[in-house]
Amino acid sequence: MTLRMIHGYFNEKGCITPAGGTFSAGWQSPSNIALVKYWGKKEGQVPMNPSLSMTLSKAVTRTKLSASPGGEPAGLISVNREADHPFVPKMKVLLEQLVPVIPCLSGLAIRAETENTFPHSAGIASSASGMSAFALCLLDIAVQMTHTKPSPCEWDAMASEASRMGSGSACRSVYGGFALWGKTNLVPSSGDDHAVDVSRGVHPVFLSMHDAILIVSSGKKQVSSTIGHGTMPGHPYLEGRIRQANVNTGVLLRALAGGDFEQVASVSENEALSLHALLMTAMPPIILVKPATMEIINRVQEARKGGMPVFFTLDAGANVHVLYPKDAAGPVEHFINEVLVSFCEDGRVIYDECGPGPVKLGMDLEKVPQ
Ligand code: DP6
Repeated sequence: MTLRMIHGYFNEKGCITPAGGTFSAGWQSPSNIALVKYWGKKEGQVPMNPSLSMTLSKAVTRTKLSASPGGEPAGLISVNREADHPFVPKMKVLLEQLVPVIPCLSGLAIRAETENTFPHSAGIASSASGMSAFALCLLDIAVQMTHTKPSPCEWDAMASEASRMGSGSACRSVYGGFALWGKTNLVPSSGDDHAVDVSRGVHPVFLSMHDAILIVSSGKKQVSSTIGHGTMPGHPYLEGRIRQANVNTGVLLRALAGGDFEQVASVSENEALSLHALLMTAMPPIILVKPATMEIINRVQEARKGGMPVFFTLDAGANVHVLYPKDAAGPVEHFINEVLVSFCEDGRVIYDECGPGPVKLGMDLEKVPQ
C-alpha cells in the first residue's frame, strides 16, 4: 500500500453529490530546494534515501479546479482550457493513482486553471509546486464531497502523500520551513509515504534563510529528473550514496538545530556535488553543469573562506542556488551583483527565501483569509 494515510481516511466514506452540483477548490503551493537530495526511487514513488528541503516563498504555483459529477467523460478534461496542455499527462497520472483510494473522485469531469509565479525555464522545481497544488485541490474536493473534516495532522500527511504520487519532491512542499521525506531512525515520525515537518527543530537563523537562484541556463535540461532517478538502480556508487545521504541527513539535522551555518553549508555543498557526481558517473553519463556553474561555485566557496556566510546547492540542472542568512542579505546580494551576476544568462537572478507553505485560495485565486 503506497497511499496508506489516504486509504485509511477515505476508506468506506461515502460521497454526497448534490444533483448538478459543481465542486471547486483553489490552492497555492510553493517549490522547495533540497539540501539533502532525493536521488533514486523504488516502485510506488518510494525514495531510496531520506531527503531534507527548505520550502520557498515566492516560487509558487496557483491552481484552481472545478469538478462536475456526471454528464461528461470523467477525468482531467483540460488545463488552462487546453486538452493537450503539457502538464496534462503528469496530472492525469496523479489523478489515476488517487481514484482507487478516493472513489468519489472517479466520476468527476475536472478542469484546471494553473499559473506559476516563476518562469518554467528558471530551473526551479515546478513539478514540486505544481503537483502539490494539484494534489491539495483534489484532496480539498474529496473532503467537500465526503462532508468530512480531517485534523490538521491528517490533512498534512494526506496532502503530502498525494503530492508524492505526482512528483517525489512535491511531498515536501506541503510544509513551510523545513521538511524531511524518507524513513530514517533519526526522526521517529519519518516515513516513505509522506514527508514530515521538521521546522520545530530548526534554529531561527535558517527559518528566514534567503535563496538567490542564479540562472546560468534557461534552456531545456538534457534529461528530466525522472530519467535521472532511473540511473540509480545498478549505479556503481548506489550503496555508498544511500549511506552518505543517511549520514548527511543526521549531520544536517543537528547542524540546523544548533544554528551551525558552516556545517549546514558544507553538508549541503557535499550533497549538491554528489548529485552531479552520480549523474556524471551514470552510464551513459549525464553532464548538466556548465562552465559558469563551476565559476559561481568556486567564487561562493572563496567568499565563504573569506568569512562571508554563503553556500550553494544545485538541482538536477546548471543553475545555482546561493543561500545565506537574512542578516547577511546586504553584503551577499552586493557580492552576487558585483561578482556572480556576470556568469548568469542575461544577468538573471531570482531572489527567494524560506516560506510558510501552501495557502488556500478563493476561486479568484486570491488568498482566503484564515
Ligand atoms: C534533484 O521530484 O523532480 O531535485 O519524483 O520523478 O518527479 P520525480 O522527481 P523529482 O526529483 C527531484 C530531484 C532533485 C532532488 C530533490 O528535490 O530532492
